[in-house]
Amino acid sequence: MYFIANWKMFGDIKSLNSLNKVLKFSRHKKNNKIRLIYCPPYTLLNLFHKKIKNSNIELGAQNCHEEEVSGPFTGSISSKMLKKIGAKYVIVGHSENRAIGESNLTINKKIKSSINTGLKIIFCIGETLQQRKKKQTHKVLLDQISKGLKGIKKMNNVIFAYEPVWSIGTGITPKANDLKKNIAFLRNSLLKKFRLKNPKILYGGSVNPKNVRNFKEINIIDGFLVGGASQDSKKFIDIVKKTFN
Ligand code: PGA
Repeated sequence: MYFIANWKMFGDIKSLNSLNKVLKFSRHKKNNKIRLIYCPPYTLLNLFHKKIKNSNIELGAQNCHEEEVSGPFTGSISSKMLKKIGAKYVIVGHSENRAIGESNLTINKKIKSSINTGLKIIFCIGETLQQRKKKQTHKVLLDQISKGLKGIKKMNNVIFAYEPVWSIGTGITPKANDLKKNIAFLRNSLLKKFRLKNPKILYGGSVNPKNVRNFKEINIIDGFLVGGASQDSKKFIDIVKKTFN
């Protein structure tokens, strides 16, 4: 099970202290079924890397530029730069970036460059409320994965995060039945159309210690991408604990 903390545009040097609890927890838990991944803002990647060295916690970034190595792109960070600083993962296609103009084509280029660099990709997909109301969810998901994965051969390093846009940061989560159907649809498409052998599909959107048990019965989920609740280490640890008991 993957537990990915997406800190978004939150956190400063002081917030690194909150990692102590998680480090302690990760040492005690000798459960190799758990993967803890932190995606802090770029400004904290280096400090995080030093702090989690020799622990079971892995490092990820929240985005990257489509250009693999370097170039005249003010304000951007390449996948190679992320790799060099110790990141193993990168989130691509988050709806908060799609909302400000990131296209499926750009996402596809980012995935390609990150694969070339040797990063693992956390590829976010999900429908908006309007699309859901129009019953376009499966069409949208298929479109996002088809365009995002176009021309990509090495797909083993891609992890999928199904994040309904209407659920992110709203406290609203999908009904178990709907979620089950959507995850099953994704898995089926990835197996049949994209010939992935064992796709990993996570859920993201308002996951917290109170509702995480509701997801338990949906035993086809391979983990969670957690935003708001991941900034509080106690809540993040509780999410992991409550997933298993
Ligand atoms: P949330 O965010 O947990 O705050 O809803 C999830 C995400 O955006 O990945």
